[in-house]
Amino acid sequence: MKLWSLCALLLLVCQPTFAAGTVEVLHWWTSKGESKAVQVLKDKMEAKGHHWKDFAIAGGGGQSAMTVLKMRAISGNPPTAAQLKGQDIQEWGRLGFLTSLDKVAEQEHWENVLLPEVEQIVNDLQLIKYDGQYVAVPVTLHRVNWLWINPHIFKLAGAKVPTTLAEFYVAADKIKAAGYIPLAHGGESWQDATLFEAVALSVLGAQDYAKAFVDLDLTELSSDKMVEVFRQFKKMRQYIDPNAKGRRWNQATEMLMHDQAAMQIMGDWAKGEFTSEHKVAGKDYLCVPVPGTQGMFSYNLDTITFFKLKSNEEDERAQQDLAQILLTKPFQREFSLYKGSIPIRKDVSLKGFDTCSLASMKAFKFAAKNNALVPSFSHNLATSSDVQSAIIDVVSRFFDDPSADPKMAAVRLSRAVKSAM
Ligand code: GAL
Repeated sequence: MKLWSLCALLLLVCQPTFAAGTVEVLHWWTSKGESKAVQVLKDKMEAKGHHWKDFAIAGGGGQSAMTVLKMRAISGNPPTAAQLKGQDIQEWGRLGFLTSLDKVAEQEHWENVLLPEVEQIVNDLQLIKYDGQYVAVPVTLHRVNWLWINPHIFKLAGAKVPTTLAEFYVAADKIKAAGYIPLAHGGESWQDATLFEAVALSVLGAQDYAKAFVDLDLTELSSDKMVEVFRQFKKMRQYIDPNAKGRRWNQATEMLMHDQAAMQIMGDWAKGEFTSEHKVAGKDYLCVPVPGTQGMFSYNLDTITFFKLKSNEEDERAQQDLAQILLTKPFQREFSLYKGSIPIRKDVSLKGFDTCSLASMKAFKFAAKNNALVPSFSHNLATSSDVQSAIIDVVSRFFDDPSADPKMAAVRLSRAVKSAM
């Protein structure tokens, strides 16, 4: 038999016998960097012969995506999987919507692949198992308490990179005097909450932050320290331009790239935007911890959660393949490089990751050792969605109203949390 016909025969014999399935993944990764990260997943699914049906609902923070998810699930047609985080996973499990990934987990040894600190988080917060079975896959880890800096504007304004909130205001005043916007911010309520969370961590420290936003200690939530958090948060307003309302977070990041604004307080998905424009960390932009939060790490762990399907065997197979890919080494590496996050497997090489990612990994491990690792409430890791919405509502209303009183705001915060618990 000629060599080519032997090859053709072998190909025929070795062809997979299953047909392609379709996966529909609900997510809100729609900015430039995020889309590139999602493309990695799409490519890998297509390479396995499956169809990718994109189900992207714009809106950082994911509120709109969650509304759509509820509608689809109630109408009996949930997607294959969804970007779904925190305590919500248990809620969806209790309602009977989630499917088991135990087979893939066993084949892929999920019990042994995660960074020990991540393993601890997912177990403590019950982020990947419901009723003892795997139902979600952790994808990537973000640090939220980052301050992004345009070094060019800092130089022109003669400003110094701040390490305390007091130094932040000094730098911001200089930048304003030099004719630039000190703080790029968007007008969406989750962005207000992200800024508030950073200020709260700076003023309260990790222990009191956890008391307030994880333990939901009502006395802590209305304490004098919380009044101080609102006071400092209010000060941030004067450094934001009047056009912030409605601006998306990635448009705010673009303001740094285009020399319009000097700083942004945002999770490191912002780094994905810099990377997508080929900006170099440490040269074109700087990343430093939010002033006063050195050594602390507020984390946002993205997880993809899997739903029971009514469809056929092919789609179910595609669903299992999707779960398998998410925790493989190549995917973890490629996805994080675009996303700005750090991989969560313990055996992924960080070679080729930039200085901000390396700093993030170092800070993560340091904070875990020093009791300074806290879940982000603004990104749904600390509380239920109901409590989260109640907090965001108080914070955002306060920020929108120039005459709002910090003392009253702390009382409102405590009351709102109490009624949502
Ligand atoms: C977060 C999500 C991140 C990031 C951000 C902005 O909630 O966990 O991965 O994409 O929204 O869209």
